Amino acid sequence: MKRNIDLDALRETWRMTRRRSVEICAPLKAEDHVPQPITDVSPPKWHLAHSSWFFEQFVLVPFSADYRVYHPDYAYLFNSYYNHKGKRVSRADRGFMTRPTVDEILAYRAYVDEKMERFFEQEVDQKQLEVIEIGTQHEQQHQELLVYDIKYILGSQPTHPVYGAFFSREKPQPHTQWVPVNEGICEIGADGTTFCFDNELARHKVYLPGCQLRDALITNGEFLEFVESGAYENFDLWHADGWDFLRSENIQSPLYWTRREDQWHHYTLEGLQPLPLDRPVQHVSFYEAFAFAEWAGWHLPTEFEWEAASGQLDWGHNWEWTNSAYLPYPGFSKAPGALGEYNGKFMVNQMVLRGASAATTPGHSRPTYRNFFYPGARWIFSGIRVAKS
Ligand SMILES: [Fe+2]
Repeated sequence: MKRNIDLDALRETWRMTRRRSVEICAPLKAEDHVPQPITDVSPPKWHLAHSSWFFEQFVLVPFSADYRVYHPDYAYLFNSYYNHKGKRVSRADRGFMTRPTVDEILAYRAYVDEKMERFFEQEVDQKQLEVIEIGTQHEQQHQELLVYDIKYILGSQPTHPVYGAFFSREKPQPHTQWVPVNEGICEIGADGTTFCFDNELARHKVYLPGCQLRDALITNGEFLEFVESGAYENFDLWHADGWDFLRSENIQSPLYWTRREDQWHHYTLEGLQPLPLDRPVQHVSFYEAFAFAEWAGWHLPTEFEWEAASGQLDWGHNWEWTNSAYLPYPGFSKAPGALGEYNGKFMVNQMVLRGASAATTPGHSRPTYRNFFYPGARWIFSGIRVAKS
């Protein structure tokens, strides 16, 4: 079925999305916009520029006849990974760019916004609206990365600065119940009648052996038992890669956990706080999620089991690691040209996470949404849901 994108509705979502990126950065000082403490973490000002670059390069340059790029260097400075779009600053070097300044990047955003508003006034066809829609969804993805990256940048400071309470949505987990996933054939993936990314297609049938998913996420208290049992010293619980990862990174607890005067604390966007034992554990890698499930006598659900149970789960606290590798669905095809680089080329060596987190832009996720990260990622808002056979 062919989808018809409504111009007015998309323009409203696009406007809200453009505003939100700036709002997320509003509590930051200029200095907070610049550093890149690890390669995974991009400077906030880079996100602000790159999400504008996307509209410039994918919408305005190809479709707006009289458009002039804002600055000839920006295509090189703010391309992320699109080989079709030419050379770029290497990812690890983003934090060295003290120029352009934050103010210059905000001026770039304003320029792109003004040209986009003018573009919306023209005859915009469905193909062009599709690209604007992807650009809007793309910026929403960067908004979530912005929150992760801001937390990492502030969390790396010895002073534990406070960002604010905007992304605090964690609540105590409900009393533990188990949601059944029946044995049988299940339809998985998006049907294409509303927006989805190409990695959610094609909808297809999967055989499920039957299991139960726990409705409550694993809590800090449960994970603390795992830590205090000596699990980080017990090689039997870990993948070989995970064991090497613990050793090389000297990992002994989730990211942001720290002991102060015999009490566990964790860094949050509201500062350093005593670890709340009834809240979902956050900032664990796939390796830690897997080892926890192994230790507890459970397992991680596959992404298909998760999707089948999603209607009965209270999801949205943290992205939930699944035991599924990020692979193309049967019938997956990538778009021609640069947009074909969006998802397909990352379908190796990564694991799927399902759900959403407190940092996810409202409306951005859905039960078929496939998030994906390398198994060692811990700065993301990730958590653990377990299954049993
Ligand atoms: Fe991007």
